Amino acid sequence: MTTSRRRYHITTFGCQMNKADSERMAGILEDMGFEWSEDPNYADVIVYNTCTIRDNAEQKVYSYLGRQAKRKHEQPNLILIVAGCVAQQEGEALLRRVPELDLVMGPQHANRLKDLLQQVFDGNQVVATEPIHIMEDITKPRRDSKVTAWVNVIYGCNERCTYCVVPNVRGVEQSRTPEAIRAEMVELGRLGYKEVTLLGQNIDAYGRDLPGVTPEGRHKHTLTDLLYYVHDVPGIERIRFATSHPRYFTERLIRACAELPKVCEHFHIPFQSGDNEVLKRMGRGYTHEKYRRIIDKIREYVPDAAISADAIVGFPGETEAQFENTLKLVEDVGFDQLNTAAYSPRPGTPAAVWEGQISEEVKSDRLQRLNRLVAMKAAERSQRYMGRIEEVLVEDQNPKDKTQVMGRTRTNRLTFFTGDINELKGQLVKVKITEVRAFSLTGEPVEVREAVSV
Ligand code: SAH
Ligand code: SF4
Ligand code: F3S
Repeated sequence: MTTSRRRYHITTFGCQMNKADSERMAGILEDMGFEWSEDPNYADVIVYNTCTIRDNAEQKVYSYLGRQAKRKHEQPNLILIVAGCVAQQEGEALLRRVPELDLVMGPQHANRLKDLLQQVFDGNQVVATEPIHIMEDITKPRRDSKVTAWVNVIYGCNERCTYCVVPNVRGVEQSRTPEAIRAEMVELGRLGYKEVTLLGQNIDAYGRDLPGVTPEGRHKHTLTDLLYYVHDVPGIERIRFATSHPRYFTERLIRACAELPKVCEHFHIPFQSGDNEVLKRMGRGYTHEKYRRIIDKIREYVPDAAISADAIVGFPGETEAQFENTLKLVEDVGFDQLNTAAYSPRPGTPAAVWEGQISEEVKSDRLQRLNRLVAMKAAERSQRYMGRIEEVLVEDQNPKDKTQVMGRTRTNRLTFFTGDINELKGQLVKVKITEVRAFSLTGEPVEVREAVSV
């Protein structure tokens, strides 16, 4: 290693958990004296924090890696790291495929980056993929935003959805203690953060692995209890959480969201399919009727709530009629946003080897039809904002128009309005909505509220 300024670069693929892990790894590297380099070609340490949820996500990293592996031949001191879910899935096999790699580390090892790098500096090629108890990190994350932050509440997933690699790559559920979560939020509030998103692959499972039961026989620690416990953290004005699982979603949770003013009126509850037979084969543990009842309950308690979800088309054996049940659910519920994907067979998952795999043509046709409907319904949902005054938390400048700033409504709609980012960043602004599109809004500021701080 050179003694001059050493630089690092991280490219992050995948979901919010990966983004949160990258922020912690960046914190560790900065603590070790590395400086951020936007361009990987000027970095001495490169981390690819990878995703393997679908095949196209996995393939991306190989093309990135190929380029840097070549560079390593001219610059032998370059340290190449693959972290995240592809690292966990492939382990040693990655070293055979890309021998230039120095370190392959699964998501559970993110907090150990410093130790692992030390082993690399000592001359080892390291693979860290064994399951471990996730240590609470002592290093401060280097967060991308100064306004909104992610806070992990539960790692891993104990579900067995038959299409999904997450349990294989993220391991079993591990909840953080309410005290650790609250302490992280208190620190965020002190630093001026305004919004926190509590994260878990199946956040409704929060607390199942922590000790204690109530006199009524419930787990002592649940997501609902956690929301009450962290709600009054000074400075934090908005609380969000994701991802919810319909199987465990409770009326008690909806009531808490209605009651607690900081909890935003947005629910992200993936349904995956609108057909009961498909849901059963996915191993999801609910019917479309149950899903609809959850939505009805949400609308009863929080009438204006935004609802978003994930859905998969072309699951093995999905017939045209079954796909139409997904369309029907989307038509009936009217989602504010829906992440859609064509089913992708994943190594080590049951559905990957089932008969009745759907052709790429049919999958892409179904995906297009679903996406058209989603955009139409989202545009309909956006109509209700027209002329309304919405509270927007300003996060950034609009990259496409520097005279504008952008932020989100409490219901998570991206909103643009004219203003100076230097004055408005981190402010809660009342904005009158004057233009609506399917997935974003434009408005005029009517009042800036200095957020009540500590
Ligand atoms: N924990 C969340 C989602 C995690 S993965 C949940 O339970 O809903 C994010 C999304 O990727 C999933 O909701 C699903 O829609 C999609 N997905 C997961 N595996 C997939 C696969 N094999 N093919 C296509 N999409 C998939
Ligand atoms: Fe995957 Fe299902 Fe777990 Fe979500 S709940 S991460 S879809 S196994
Ligand atoms: Fe991808 Fe891993 Fe997240 S597979 S979606 S980065 S949990």
